[in-house]
Amino acid sequence: MTQTLRLGIAGLGTVGASVLRMVARRAQALTAATGRTIAVSAVSARDRNRNRGVDLASVQWFDDPVALARSGEIDVFVELMGGSEGAAKDAVEAALAAGKHVVTANKALLAHHGAALARSAEEHGVTLAYEASVAGGIPVIKAIREGLAGNEVSRVYGILNGTCNYILSRMEAEGLTFEACLKDAQALGYAEADPTFDVEGFDTAHKLAILTSLAFGVEIDAEGVSVEGISAIQPLDLTMADELGYRIKLLGVAQATAEGIEQRVHPTMVPKASAIAQVMGVTNAVTVDADAVGELTLIGPGAGGEATASAVVADIADVALSSSAPGLARPTFGRPVSGLAAPRRVEMQRHEGGYYIRLTVHDRTGVAAGVATRMAEANISIESIVQRRSAKAASSDPQGLSGQPVPLVLITYAATEGNVRKALSAIDRDGLLAEAPQLIRIERD
Ligand SMILES: NC(=O)c1ccc[n+]([C@@H]2O[C@H](COP(=O)([O-])OP(=O)(O)OC[C@H]3O[C@@H](n4cnc5c(N)ncnc54)[C@H](OP(=O)(O)O)[C@@H]3O)[C@@H](O)[C@H]2O)c1
Repeated sequence: MTQTLRLGIAGLGTVGASVLRMVARRAQALTAATGRTIAVSAVSARDRNRNRGVDLASVQWFDDPVALARSGEIDVFVELMGGSEGAAKDAVEAALAAGKHVVTANKALLAHHGAALARSAEEHGVTLAYEASVAGGIPVIKAIREGLAGNEVSRVYGILNGTCNYILSRMEAEGLTFEACLKDAQALGYAEADPTFDVEGFDTAHKLAILTSLAFGVEIDAEGVSVEGISAIQPLDLTMADELGYRIKLLGVAQATAEGIEQRVHPTMVPKASAIAQVMGVTNAVTVDADAVGELTLIGPGAGGEATASAVVADIADVALSSSAPGLARPTFGRPVSGLAAPRRVEMQRHEGGYYIRLTVHDRTGVAAGVATRMAEANISIESIVQRRSAKAASSDPQGLSGQPVPLVLITYAATEGNVRKALSAIDRDGLLAEAPQLIRIERD
């Protein structure tokens, strides 16, 4: 048998502690699968005295993760600290430069520095593995990079943030506000004290940028993702979606167009019958549209110590195999960095698709006709229009003379974002709106 593969793990929090337990628990099976003994030989975290529920007696402790990354006592540096800069970036760079394989769960690091890190891994002849960085326990990186190598991908999209999906699922099921559901998510530990990163879509954007690179063979371009979160979604939008045959999900979508790759994160109406619409709570899902397989959807746990450790340990097992048979090593993003195309951004204004538009209009005769005119002028065809007046308003003001604010919901056929924005500006200039409009894109099968 070849030598033991020695792991250095930096970060002993939710994921790190689970990885330690899993490597110990699955030791025999991992050896059987890889032909090597895999053992943790050193660790690093901030607080040496914290009880982490794992036995650290036989492993070396490093206060400095960069020193651990460079240590001659390890073969693989497992980065589970998090953050795109600082300790995680310094330590991963140091590990690659020192010729260590790197396994990480850090989407922020990959999204911002993926190409440079992959280049360094190539230069030093080592693996940079990151299965856990997207959709936690779902093996989506492997599925796209390895399982779909013979396919041309046209679109990849997914529910990549469990916190947002939990909030939207509860808003839908219980008619609650975003704020109430966020509070519950925080109480249950699904959302951070500062939830901005999750609920405003940035976490999804990082994961999407990684998927885009893999699926389309382009360099990661996290800054090129158009990002919109879920904080403006109201219970009425979920009710209307339900009536119109849709569910609202925060999706990350990467789509090939004639101009380049659209990358967008936004609340999205998906047909209720679609696979992705069935995904509720903290669960994640990724759908890939590809020429040979058609539509493929992977659904599973996107977070949590054990599920995420599952992906990290799978990467460690791959490294154990490929480091003794280097021909098995995979380029980080499915092809050498020099073979990745430069990203061609597509402005959101050029996006073409269906739209749900909820206007809050003054309840006056002729308002719906005024809205329809402005839509037609911007070349937008309306698939359906729903005007809501309460029973009270209908009886107290049967002719609609009061001008009370009422919702007017439109579903459009395919239109460009630019034209939709133009029409909404004209409607606003006409003085028809009592509130800012709500606009949700529709993603059809
Ligand atoms: N949690 C999940 O479900 C999940 C899912 C997918 C991906 N991830 C990713 O996995 C990574 C780890 O997440 P986590 O939830 O396990 O985080 P966590 O519970 O906050 O743990 C972070 C660990 O990193 C250590 N650390 C932080 N800064 C350090 C530094 N400068 N030097 C040494 N150690 C440092 C901390 O030390 P102390 O314990 O001493 O403070 C802690 O042990 C992140 O990149 C995250 O995005 C997490």
